[in-house]
Amino acid sequence: MIWFNALEDKHHSQRQARDKLRHRRDFPANVGMSDARDTDDERNNDTKTNPGASRHGNFMNYYQFHPAEERMRQLPHGVWRLAHPARKYAGLDVGCNAGDLTYILYDFLEKIMKSQDQPEISLFGVDLDPILIERARERNLRPDRVTFECLNFLSKDCSETLTRYLDQLDKSRFDVVFCFSITMWIHLNHGDDGLEEFLRKACALAEMIVIEPQPWRCYRNASRRLKRAKSEDFPLLKGLKYTGDLAKHIENIITRLCNFRKVVVTESNGWGRKLLIYERKQQNQVINRNI
Ligand SMILES: C[S@@+](CC[C@H](N)C(=O)[O-])C[C@H]1O[C@@H](n2cnc3c(N)ncnc32)[C@H](O)[C@@H]1O
Repeated sequence: MIWFNALEDKHHSQRQARDKLRHRRDFPANVGMSDARDTDDERNNDTKTNPGASRHGNFMNYYQFHPAEERMRQLPHGVWRLAHPARKYAGLDVGCNAGDLTYILYDFLEKIMKSQDQPEISLFGVDLDPILIERARERNLRPDRVTFECLNFLSKDCSETLTRYLDQLDKSRFDVVFCFSITMWIHLNHGDDGLEEFLRKACALAEMIVIEPQPWRCYRNASRRLKRAKSEDFPLLKGLKYTGDLAKHIENIITRLCNFRKVVVTESNGWGRKLLIYERKQQNQVINRNI
C-alpha cells in the first residue's frame, strides 16, 4: 500500500533504533503467547513457534510471532477523524504489551491524518505487566507524544490516570480507543460481566473504538496450554455464556449497551481475526465520563 511504503521510508531509522534496543535484551525463555496461529502452534514444541501458557496474554515475545506492521494492513483509511474541531487527536491503546503496535499506530495516524490539518497526535498505552511497560518505555523515541503506564485497565487507578491525561489535553474523551487482542484475556479472567464492564469502560472513554477480538478457538487453546503447563485452568471459562461467535456478542454489547454504531467490520486477516470498528452515536450529548 502506498501509505505503508512511505511510512516505512520515513520511519526507517527510528525503527532501526528501536529494534537495536529491543534485541539488546534477551527475551525470557518461552513465556509464550497463545492467542493466534493456534492450530499450528499446538503441534510444536519449538519455542520460536510454540506459544506457551499465559493467564493474561502478557507474552514477552508477542511481536516475534505477530509483527506489528502486518496487522496495520487491515486498518481502513477513511474512518479517522477528529471528533471536535481541535488540532489534538488522542488515542488509547489498551493492553499495549511492549509497545510495538502502539508505535506503529502512532506512525499510521500521523500519516493518515496529514490531510486533516495535521493534528497533534498523542497516544497513551496501558498494560498490566510492568516488564512489558518498561520495554515499551525504553524504546520510546517520542516521549512527548507517546506515553506508557503500567495499569490494570479495569482498576480505579487507571480511570483516574486516564482522566488526568485527557484533562491535560483539554479533551473529554479519546478520539480512538484500540483494543487489539485483549478481549479474550479480560473475558477469561473476569467472565461475561467483566467483558461487558471492559467494553462499557472503553466506550465511555472513546469517540471511536477499534476491537480485534480473539475467536472462540483461542479460548480453548489458552485453557489447554495452562493445563498442559500444570497451572490452574481459567476458573470462569466453563460458566461463560458469551461463547461461539465472540464478534457478534461484542457487537451486541457495544451497540445495545454502549450506544455506539457500527462503522466497519473488516475481513479476517491471515490468522483469522477481524477488526470491529464502532463510533459513538451523535446526539445532544451530556458528556458523562463516569468510568
Ligand atoms: C495478547 S496481548 C496483545 C497486545 C497488543 N494489544 C497487540 O495486539 O499487539 C494482550 C495484552 O493485554 C494485556 N492485558 C491483559 N489484561 C489487561 C488488563 N486488565 N489491563 C491492562 N492490560 C491487560 C496483557 O498484559 C498483554 O500485554
